Amino acid sequence: MKHAWLLSTLALWALAVTLPAFAATPAGGAPAATAPADDDDDGDEDEMAKLSKAQPAAPGDRSQTPGAKVYARACAQCHDGQVAKAPSRVFLEMVSPESIYASLKTGIMAPQAMAAGLTDAEKHQVAEFLSGQPVGQARVLPAPMCTGDAAKFDTSRPPAIQGWGFTPENVHFVRGDVAQLPASDVPRLKLKWALAYPSALRVRSRPTFAYGALYTGSQDGTVYALDAKTGCVRWTFRNSAEVRTPVMVQSAADAKGGPPLAFFGDLIGRVHAVNALTGEPVWRVRADDHPSATITGSPVYFRGTLYVPVSSLEEAVIDPNYACCTFRGSVLALDAKTGEQRWKTYMIEEEPKQVGTRRSGAAVMSPSGAAIWNTPSLDPKRGLLYVGTGNNYTGPANHRSNAVIALDLATGKVRWEWQVVPGDAWNVGCMIGSDSCPENPGPDYDIGSGTMLVRLADGTERIMVGLKSGVALAMDPENPTKGGLWQNRVGRGSIQGGIQFGMAFDGERLYVPISDMKDTGDLSSKERDAAAGPIRPGMYALDPKTGKLLWETRADDVCRGRQFCDPGILASIAAIPGAVFAGHMDGRVRAYDTLTGRVLWNFDTTEPMPSLSGAKAIGGSIGGGGPVVYDGMVYVNSGYGLYMHMPGNVLAAFSVDGK
Ligand code: HEC
Repeated sequence: MKHAWLLSTLALWALAVTLPAFAATPAGGAPAATAPADDDDDGDEDEMAKLSKAQPAAPGDRSQTPGAKVYARACAQCHDGQVAKAPSRVFLEMVSPESIYASLKTGIMAPQAMAAGLTDAEKHQVAEFLSGQPVGQARVLPAPMCTGDAAKFDTSRPPAIQGWGFTPENVHFVRGDVAQLPASDVPRLKLKWALAYPSALRVRSRPTFAYGALYTGSQDGTVYALDAKTGCVRWTFRNSAEVRTPVMVQSAADAKGGPPLAFFGDLIGRVHAVNALTGEPVWRVRADDHPSATITGSPVYFRGTLYVPVSSLEEAVIDPNYACCTFRGSVLALDAKTGEQRWKTYMIEEEPKQVGTRRSGAAVMSPSGAAIWNTPSLDPKRGLLYVGTGNNYTGPANHRSNAVIALDLATGKVRWEWQVVPGDAWNVGCMIGSDSCPENPGPDYDIGSGTMLVRLADGTERIMVGLKSGVALAMDPENPTKGGLWQNRVGRGSIQGGIQFGMAFDGERLYVPISDMKDTGDLSSKERDAAAGPIRPGMYALDPKTGKLLWETRADDVCRGRQFCDPGILASIAAIPGAVFAGHMDGRVRAYDTLTGRVLWNFDTTEPMPSLSGAKAIGGSIGGGGPVVYDGMVYVNSGYGLYMHMPGNVLAAFSVDGK
C-alpha cells in the first residue's frame, strides 16, 4: 500500500500537532485551522517550526477516561475486531469528534448507541476519547457562500478535466484550450486567493472541474463545490470520514434528464454519489466489507459506470494479537445511477488461510494485500481497465502483487496480467522489526503512479507504468504479456521513494516525478536502499518510445534541515503545452519547461497566506493529488501531515498577475 507508517504513531503525531491549534482557539470563536491563531507576521515561521517539531506526545492515560469505558462496553466488540463492515478503530480515531457524536446521536450509529443505552454525556465522552479532541468546534466555512452569478452552475460547461489523471486514460495532461495558460505566461503567475480548510493537517484530494465549479474533498470529510474563479462556496456535503479521492462529475448528457451526479470515495471504504449541482446525497455503498478497507485512488467514471479501486490500511496494523492479514485489493463496477454493483473482482482470488502462528498465538494469514491505491486507466477501444497493484502484506508472496492487470469492463474478468516485481511480501511491522513482518521481506515496490494509456506521435499506443522502485516502463497493449518494452530506473526508489502518485504525458515526452525521500524510517530496507545508490529526487523527461532520458532537473534542497521537509516530488504532476507543474515535499509548486526542464516558476506554499475566511492558511508538503491547471488558473492543495511530511491546510489558486 501507500508508503505505510505506523498508524498508531501517526495518530498520536497528528494529535500532537493538532492540539496546540485547539488550545489557541478562543472558545466558540475562530476556526480550528491547523495553524496557531497568532497574528503577528514574524512569529509564523517559528510557530510552524514548533508545530513541525512536535513529537508524538504522551497523550496521558486515555485508557482511564470515562470515554474509554464507554468504548469498551459499547463499541469494541465491533470496531476492535474483524467484524465485517465495521471500520477499524484506527479509522475511528481519524474521524472528528463532532462526526462521531453526530453519528451516535442521529446518524448510522444511533441504533448502536440506543442498544447500549448511552446517555448524551457518554456519547460525548466516547467521541472525545476516540478523537483525542473536545467536541464542539463550531462548523466554519473556509470561504463565503457564493451569491449572484458565482453561485450558478453553468450546465453548458461539461466536466473538462477530472479524476487523478484528468481523463479516463489517466494521462495527466490538460489540453491548451482547457488550460488557457500559455507557457510564456507561467512566470507571471501570482496568488489570486487561498482557502484554509478547517480542522485539517493534510489535503490529498485533487481538484476537478465541471459547470464552472471546482470540486474537492477534505480531511474533515467535507466535500466542496466552489466557484472556480473566486473560491466562494456553492455547496458543501458533510461526510463523516476523510475524502482523499478526487470528485468525479457526470456530464448532463450522461445523466439523461436527471441531475448530474458527483462521485467520491472515503477513508472508511465507502463510495458516495451526490447531486453535482446541490450536494444532496443520492446513494452510498460500502466498497468492501473488510474493517481496514479504504479508498485512496480515484474512481474512474465512464459512460454510466463507476470503476472503484479498493485499498486498505491493514498492513499498518501493528497489534501483536492481530491475525495478519486478510485484506485483498479489488475493483468494483457500480451503476452510476443507483450504486448497484455490476461486478467485483479481487486481485487475489482465493481467501486467505492460516499459514503460521505469531508469538502471541494469533494466526498469520495468507495470501493478502495487492491493494490498489493508485488510479486505473480505461481503454474504451479494447474494453479494458488497467490497474496496478501494491505489495502482498504477508508471505508467501503471490503472482498478483506489483502487477499490471487488465480487467474486462463488462464482466470484470482478468484478461491478462504481468507481474513487474515478484516476491514482495511486506508490511509496516518490517519497519520496526515486529513479528508480523514476513520472512525475507520484499522491497514494497508498489505500482505507485498507476497506469496510463497514451498515444505516441506515430499513432502506436503504450501503457506507461511507474513504480516506487523508481522504474518507469512502457508496455504494448497489443502484446502486454511480453512485459516492458523498455524500463528505465530513473529514481533510486524506497518505500517512499521512486515514482509515487502520477507521471504525465503530453504526446511528446513522458514526465517522471521522483520522490526518493531521504529517510523513510524503514529498518528493513536500509541496506537495500544504500546498495541501490544515491537518491535522485527531481523531475525527469523520457522519450516515450525508447525510455531514454531527455533531460533531468534534480530538486534543489531548500529544506536546510527543516523537519519533515524533503526536496522530492511525491504528488501527481500535471502537464500543459510547454510546461509541467509539480508540487514538492518541500512545499513548493514548481513549473518546468517541457523542452529543457528549466524551472519557469516556483511558489512556496509554506509561507502563510491571506485566506478567504480570514483563518490562517499555511501549506506544507504536497502529496497525493498535485497541481491542476484549468481555464487560466493553477490550483494546488497543499499539506500532507502524515508519513513524516509537513502538515498544511491550503487550497491555493494562482492566475497571471493574480488577476
Ligand atoms: C454491532 C456492531 C457495531 C457496534 C456495537 C458499533 N458500531 Fe460503529 N459501525 C459499525 C458498522 C458496521 C459501521 C459501518 C456502517 C456503514 O458504513 O454504513 C460503523 C460505523 C461507525 C462510524 C462511522 C459512521 C459514519 O457516520 O460514517 C463511527 C464514527 C462509529 N461506527 C462509531 C461507533 C461508536 C463510537 C460505537 C460505540 C458507541 C460504535 N460505533 C458501535 C458497527 C458497529
